[in-house]
Amino acid sequence: MAELTSAPQKVVVTGAAGNIAYSLLWRIAAGDVFGPEQPVDLTLLEIPDAVRAAEGTAMELADSALPLVSTMNVTDDAAAAFDGAQAAFLVGAKPRGKGESRADMLAANGKIFIGQGQAINAGAADDVRVLVVGNPANTNAYIANKAAPDVPADRFNALMRLDHNRALSMLAARLGVPSQRIERLVVWGNHADTQFPDITFATADGAPVEVDRAWYEDEYIPRVAKRGAEIIDVRGKSSAASAASAAVDHMRDWVRGTGERWTTAALPSRGEYGVDEGLVFGFPVHGDWEVVEGLSLSDDQRARIDANIEALRGEAAIADKLF
Ligand code: NAD
Ligand code: LMR
Repeated sequence: MAELTSAPQKVVVTGAAGNIAYSLLWRIAAGDVFGPEQPVDLTLLEIPDAVRAAEGTAMELADSALPLVSTMNVTDDAAAAFDGAQAAFLVGAKPRGKGESRADMLAANGKIFIGQGQAINAGAADDVRVLVVGNPANTNAYIANKAAPDVPADRFNALMRLDHNRALSMLAARLGVPSQRIERLVVWGNHADTQFPDITFATADGAPVEVDRAWYEDEYIPRVAKRGAEIIDVRGKSSAASAASAAVDHMRDWVRGTGERWTTAALPSRGEYGVDEGLVFGFPVHGDWEVVEGLSLSDDQRARIDANIEALRGEAAIADKLF
């Protein structure tokens, strides 16, 4: 077998004793994010009460004898965890229960991302990639970014790849084609019920996608947007393996680029498509993580995007008061 010669990448996973981390850590350790020849130094960050459970997760990781894991640390010290971090998955946060909205979680979770943003600001690598998963993900990424003024804003992303993957899968099922044949799909906006899974530009095998408008507006868009609540209802707890898989897809594509292929990522806006600068918004991205620009939008697309801008402005106003 070939020797692993690259220096290990320092990767932090918060909420390491939780459900998403229980899937995510194994995928990182298997090389699904940083590549099959890239060793990793894994840091598992938890709150003090859950450090022992995270140590149990670390014991199981050790028992998996995964060759890419160079070192593993479990800690409740955010400053130590993020010191020198090159990639961070900010998963640790309370999940919503039945009947709650993700925005309801802002009061419980928002402050977590102030402390972690400050720790990233103090010690992370200059080119750190931070992917916020904990809900409300877009606004928690906004908070972490605001708490880290010395780190470029584009180092903070929020996870909307799960919405993208859901949208892709449901469209593929409707068209009767494998999902990898569908291109140019995007989920605009917020990881919330207002999100806009947009198939206007989508193609299947290079040909424009055509579907029944009533199905698109009355079934598809709301079903994608409310899939998280549907999972909570059926499963009894929030999505975990699919969220971990989406986080792997997001970070892998961010590291490696996508070439011509579009995907969805929530990034701090630089004013694209009229989104207020700094709001963390789901955009179509491609290549080396650039927003696909210059798309012309119908009145209907514009209105759906504007509803997300409005919602995120409201969340940001609440978040600003946490500082
Ligand atoms: P979980 O309750 O199973 O685990 C969360 C873990 O986070 C717990 O072990 C808890 O102790 C830990 N934690 C809490 N505060 C922390 C802190 N300050 N530092 C480090 N760890 C901390 O929850 P889960 O199912 O793993 O979900 C985690 C979050 O991800 C939730 O907010 C959930 O809503 C969100 N989520 C987001 C998406 C998305 O697409 N963006 C998808 C699924 C879930
Ligand atoms: C999801 O979309 O599955 C997660 O954000 C969990 C939730 O609260 O819906």
